[in-house]
Amino acid sequence: MEEELINLQTNASSLIISTDDAEELEKIREDFLGKDGSLTDAIKRIGKLPQESRPEIGKLANEIKNTIEDLISHKLKSKKINTGPAKRSKKIDVTMPGQALPLGHLHLITQGIEEITNIFEHIGFTRVRYPEVEWDWYAFTALNFPENHPARDDWETFFVKEEPHPKNGQMVLTPHTSSGQIREMEKGELPIKMLNVAKCYRRQSDVSHVPMFHQFEGLVVGENISITHLKGVLDYFFKSYLGEKRKFRIRPYHFQFTEPSFEIDVSCGVCNGRGCKLCKAGWLELGGAGMVHPNVLKNGGIDTKKYTGFAFGWGVERVLMMKEDLALEDLRILYSNDLRFLEQF
Ligand code: PHE
Repeated sequence: MEEELINLQTNASSLIISTDDAEELEKIREDFLGKDGSLTDAIKRIGKLPQESRPEIGKLANEIKNTIEDLISHKLKSKKINTGPAKRSKKIDVTMPGQALPLGHLHLITQGIEEITNIFEHIGFTRVRYPEVEWDWYAFTALNFPENHPARDDWETFFVKEEPHPKNGQMVLTPHTSSGQIREMEKGELPIKMLNVAKCYRRQSDVSHVPMFHQFEGLVVGENISITHLKGVLDYFFKSYLGEKRKFRIRPYHFQFTEPSFEIDVSCGVCNGRGCKLCKAGWLELGGAGMVHPNVLKNGGIDTKKYTGFAFGWGVERVLMMKEDLALEDLRILYSNDLRFLEQF
């Protein structure tokens, strides 16, 4: 009997040591200590032993029972053990929905630029890029701004602390995409159908202005180009970008580099031109346009007897607000990296 008990302990111990599986440990417990377990069975038989050996064998059986119990519970508590969930992970349920990784998207201004570019490319415009840090010549002088003319102030320009260029003057941060007009003409390829989309910088920051914003500039130069062509392009763009229902109007205005000059207004999408808080009188101001001034053509090396052209320059932010019928209380939110706002677009 003593030998049988010691064998049981040896078997149980080696089984317990060789497994890391919780379910198997429970099974070992059942096999040895359960109702019909081998140790339970041996203990039952102690009663049939001769009286004098019963206490000693009984004590040994009890010790072995406690040892097996301790070994199992110790093993179950150890960190290496495979418990329920880990065991379940062996079986992969391929029908479970996956864990979606957060996906970003393009900033709404970038989306706007892509859409605008696409619309103009359809009618033969080519997108170009010119320097963000520009010379006064391209930004103002070549665009027919006289030296020290107050019109320069309208652009609230950032000047760069650099030695002025002997011919091109002060270095500035591009205040408007119109600086691309002269650079495009200098290429000497005619006819011109340019779309210049760029970051522009002006010294202003309040609820309706950001110091860095985006403009897109259209420039068409060729033979017999007239206001009719300008109106046709405007009509096509507004219909494509804002929808068939929107109307636009052309108001006389003044720019140094266009003659005649216009301001373009677009009917308000919120009230359909009836007048509301967003637009006040049914129209939203969009930006400038006009027929390229002959002095500008000359500065760009173009024969004004043979060629004429038109140009327009508008804010990407502004047309985007019109499209989305957005009345942002503070335009600066566009560039504040607030995901709660950006995720909506
Ligand atoms: N550059 C002008 C501005 O920033 C807009 C404009 C572009 C006007 C082209 C006429 C022609 O306000």
